[in-house]
Amino acid sequence: MRITYIGHSTVLFETDKANLLIDPFITGNGLAGTSIGDLPKIDAILLTHGHSDHIEDTQPIAERDGSLVIAIAELATYFGWKGLKTHGMSIGGGYDFPFGRVKMTLAFHGSSVAEPESRRIIDAGMPAGFLLNLDGKTIYHAGDTALFSDMKLIGERNDIDLAFLPIGDNFTMGPEDARVAADWVQARKVVPIHYNTFPVIRQDPRPFADSLGGKGVVLAPGESMEL
Ligand code: NI
Ligand code: MN
Repeated sequence: MRITYIGHSTVLFETDKANLLIDPFITGNGLAGTSIGDLPKIDAILLTHGHSDHIEDTQPIAERDGSLVIAIAELATYFGWKGLKTHGMSIGGGYDFPFGRVKMTLAFHGSSVAEPESRRIIDAGMPAGFLLNLDGKTIYHAGDTALFSDMKLIGERNDIDLAFLPIGDNFTMGPEDARVAADWVQARKVVPIHYNTFPVIRQDPRPFADSLGGKGVVLAPGESMEL
């Protein structure tokens, strides 16, 4: 499959069976590697949590492509009420979709949808990460999270080919904690995400990637890899 890092936490998976997009934040991301108009048809959008830098383009893409929105139950309900096709899940649960298995993992973070017009913050359930089984490969997208020791369990119980780990600090793990996370999840390849988009999460991903030996892979926004 072809995997493209669009920027921030947004990752596109083009598999034999479907095109999946995690955490679409493209229009408002000045560093994004593409525009939503240039995306292929998206069959499913997976959301780790409700913060705007993870859900921003969900509605326009899902309306254009009829995408299935996969999210924690509360966030799925939120988008269902906006007329989108949804599939709600919860932490620890997995489901076999036609394109592969999706399991929701723990993430230590917040999750809410902010509606600036009415100055309301809407509860969006728990934040999550994803374990994906696609085309015979196992991928872990940690979402926005702190380092937590159950990552050891995730590493012990899954043979992970590729992990996406946040390194930006401030809102999530910084590079030092992400290095420990990489150790614990034992993925063959690790791609850093959630950095440089805003001044407070500015990081140089190189030292982090280099510290992982051959495992660290820095993808520039818009850059693809084959898995
Ligand atoms: Ni967040
Ligand atoms: Mn975020």
